[in-house]
Amino acid sequence: MSASIEQAEAPHNAYDTILVLDFGSQFTHLITRRLRELNIYSEMLPCTTKLSEISWTPKGIILSGGPFSVYDNDAPHVDPAFIELGVPILGICYGLQEIAWNLSKDNVVAGTKREYGQADLTPQLNGSHADRLYEGLSENGSMRVWMSHGDKLSQLPTGFCTIATTQNSPYASIAHETKPIFGIQFHPEVTHTPRGTELLKNFAVGICSVKQNWTMTDFLEKEVLRIRKLVGNGQVIGAVSGGVDSTVAAKLMKLAIGDRFHAVLVDNGVMRLDECQQVKEALGEHIGINLTVVDASQIFLSKLKGVLDPEQKRKIIGNTFIDIFEEEAIKIEKAAENTPNAGKVEWFLQGTLYPDVIESISFKGPSATIKTHHNVGGLPKRMMDGQGLKLIEPFRELFKDEVRALGRELGVNEELVMRHPFPGPGIAIRILGEVTPERVEIARKADHIFISMIKEAGLYNEISQAYAGIDTNKAVGVMGDKRYEGYLCLLRAVQTKDFMSAEAYKFDMDFLMNVSTRIVNEVEGVSCVFYNTTSKPPATIELS
Ligand code: XMP
Repeated sequence: MSASIEQAEAPHNAYDTILVLDFGSQFTHLITRRLRELNIYSEMLPCTTKLSEISWTPKGIILSGGPFSVYDNDAPHVDPAFIELGVPILGICYGLQEIAWNLSKDNVVAGTKREYGQADLTPQLNGSHADRLYEGLSENGSMRVWMSHGDKLSQLPTGFCTIATTQNSPYASIAHETKPIFGIQFHPEVTHTPRGTELLKNFAVGICSVKQNWTMTDFLEKEVLRIRKLVGNGQVIGAVSGGVDSTVAAKLMKLAIGDRFHAVLVDNGVMRLDECQQVKEALGEHIGINLTVVDASQIFLSKLKGVLDPEQKRKIIGNTFIDIFEEEAIKIEKAAENTPNAGKVEWFLQGTLYPDVIESISFKGPSATIKTHHNVGGLPKRMMDGQGLKLIEPFRELFKDEVRALGRELGVNEELVMRHPFPGPGIAIRILGEVTPERVEIARKADHIFISMIKEAGLYNEISQAYAGIDTNKAVGVMGDKRYEGYLCLLRAVQTKDFMSAEAYKFDMDFLMNVSTRIVNEVEGVSCVFYNTTSKPPATIELS
């Protein structure tokens, strides 16, 4: 029963949906984001998806850009059934070329040089149905757009007309003469195309007639009902960490099923300074969530002893966490036996977000090859098999900013809503080399100073994530005329919308120098402080 409820009430069945088929462009997820910002529900699926594999009908389909050439032997191609479905189609860059190539292999050729950067596009309105794509968008007859392509159309596909040109692209935008099939060579999803979001709106609302009803107020109402039906009389357990995702998820469960939701906070010994106490107060006392706190710090730290490999650390922390969590689940079920809440603990709440899902289903292969993030199917099979727990993932379709909006909708206070994310393996992945209690203490204290100073300077909400970590090596310093050896403290602060790419935050140098002074003076064991200015990519946000 549960699976069918889950399916019947999945957002793509409850909302008009634009399907984005991903051909591997680094911008594809931005198409979905832009549509969501317009209160239009959109989902991304790999370009290899067959129409027969989905049980719902999109109101419109967007074929994304991609790094391939459509004429290459191993290039990915859209299932023709999507094109034959009859719903409006918009091909972006590779997507445009895919539409043209499907009609004739001669339609796409390699350009003599790549066209990269901004261009002025001239829409050619001709009174046909295709005018709707550029309606209200050009200023003095032209529109700024951003291009990034090597291949181009060599000729107009049969049955199509040109609807916009640039100096270098005579077929910068095409449309079928009668069917709602459009192609554009530029990228409307990036901010360098200033009116790109409006173009996506023209496609989705003007051409596909989708309703703009994807709001967190509406989602909340539907999600509470869905959770109630799904869970029935059962009970749900979920881990909380004090981060925004688990806090908002816990509040949502509390609203949906009250005390049949049990939150468990596991102190893994690698949390931030006073974090456990703060989470306990915020969730238990202020939000009134049924909370069990388990101090397992010694167990974790002893298992991490001597482990240097970051992936190994992640696995140890993930597996130990599950062992402890399973024990708690059994205790909770036993304790509930003789209460009005009696019912099997059948469900496990996980705060998986949409970017995790996107990365794990990407046809380029899961990002787990870079780092093992242990959301999305990362739980041991034994926990999910047979009599084990079933996953409930209310945010599986949400981006982080949507979770924050939902948190506000649920009345979670602004400080918690805006809290920086904190990884499951905690500061263990911010300590290069061995995680010892002494090194955890050093990283914790330095991190506390850095974050407090960021807050005092009023910068916390401008920064998406910040922390202090430590290096394996020690550097020589001098204090009170004496030689002194201490670890290198590594500061990181980034700005990002989706944590998939990020820029280092540009601090004022005086601020950084004040942070260094305080850390070296107040944290025994640190001799100097470095600020990491690398963006992601090529670096990642965490150190390991
Ligand atoms: P990276 O370092 O991959 O981080 O650029 C992107 C975002 O993911 C978080 N992160 C993790 N979260 N378990 C988690 O729960 C992990 O193993 C993990 N590794 C990275 C990181 O904090 C950032 O927000």
